[in-house]
Amino acid sequence: MRKHILRCITCNKEFDPKPGLYYCEDCGKILGTLEVIYDYESIKKETDVKEKKLDKKASMYQFDFLLPTKSKTKFDEYIGGTPLYKFDLLGLKDVLVKYDGSNPSSSYKDRASSIAINIALDEGNDTMFCASTGNAASSLAMLNAHTEMKTYIFVPSSIPDEKRAQLEISGAEVFAVEGTYDEVYDLSLEFGLKKGWYCRHAAINPYLLEGKKTGAFEIVIQNDFEVPDYVLVGVGDGTVISSLYKGFWEFKEIGLIDKIPKIIGVQAVGIAGVKTVFDKGKPYKPQAIEGKTIADSISVGNPRDVIKACTYIEACNGYFISLTDDEIVDAITELGKITGIFAEPAGAVPYGGLKKLIYEKKITESDTVCLVITGSGLKDVNAVKDTINKTSVTFDEVVKRFEE
Ligand SMILES: Cc1ncc(COP(=O)(O)O)c(C=O)c1O
Ligand SMILES: [Zn+2]
Repeated sequence: MRKHILRCITCNKEFDPKPGLYYCEDCGKILGTLEVIYDYESIKKETDVKEKKLDKKASMYQFDFLLPTKSKTKFDEYIGGTPLYKFDLLGLKDVLVKYDGSNPSSSYKDRASSIAINIALDEGNDTMFCASTGNAASSLAMLNAHTEMKTYIFVPSSIPDEKRAQLEISGAEVFAVEGTYDEVYDLSLEFGLKKGWYCRHAAINPYLLEGKKTGAFEIVIQNDFEVPDYVLVGVGDGTVISSLYKGFWEFKEIGLIDKIPKIIGVQAVGIAGVKTVFDKGKPYKPQAIEGKTIADSISVGNPRDVIKACTYIEACNGYFISLTDDEIVDAITELGKITGIFAEPAGAVPYGGLKKLIYEKKITESDTVCLVITGSGLKDVNAVKDTINKTSVTFDEVVKRFEE
């Protein structure tokens, strides 16, 4: 376990970690989210990564020199180490495609759940809880199924059947609540914190970002330490995008790379919560909006990690864009046709975002780009139901087709 302190993103007050400390009480739950800060100078001295031989396929725990956990669980060696493909896409050569649908529960969220489970065990907890748009919950439920800990899950009842099935078969106790994600989040926090259960909410538990940042580490080592100019990723609460920034920032801080990519957050036009706050400029003020999108995983109106997301994205000269639902569905099908990767809506938005930015000439063929595909399309087949051709043919028709 790497020693660290916690620091408030708004007032910079520093805290020593202790069980039950999730945010800076002076600043509150959204303004007072915490950052996990290590002693980078000493890590820099002791960790010559070129000597450490980081492995392009190893699990995310190979980065233990920048991780806060001690416990180990069965799944650890299978979390992360996901593929980084290269495809010629949309007129650009060698676009990097980080595909996190190949994690055990088929989404990026396993990186965070795994850290949460290990810390919960480190602290001796017997119960965990999570509110989620679907993937964080299914990830926690599945990765926690084999431990002794009890898992309470709170999700909107509208989540896709595939994610619901993951929850039910894992034996977690599931509350599929009639309400939006934002309402379910507040409800779960009210009970979970009062009861003292360990909280797997990425937007309030600073440690979860620590797992998610390993995606950035992997992009760097799998691309032979060449940092792309742009990284695009889907955004809901704002934790995944913040984690990518922190990952690149930490690798720069310990001297492994010398630049941080421009990170671009892609949201849905119908409910672009983080973009709304970012575009209004500083000081960033949390704001709740209402709306909806087919991309259930990023259907978040009151983003809880909005301050970190805006602060970090400003620091790397990135920005936020948004896509219509039609553009999102097109992104899923085009990405599938060109690469063979089937992404869920929130996973496909980076492709749609790239298409838009190329059209607007903001990204050109001289730029290097990485798309982070955060979830498998098998988690939400309904999103592309119109593309499913249910017609059938007879044996004779097949024979005729090929005998001609
Ligand atoms: C597949 C997928 N992509 C992107 C996101 C967005 O992550 P965040 O809410 O941390 O912005 C999520 C969150 O649930 C997700 O499940
Ligand atoms: Zn504070």
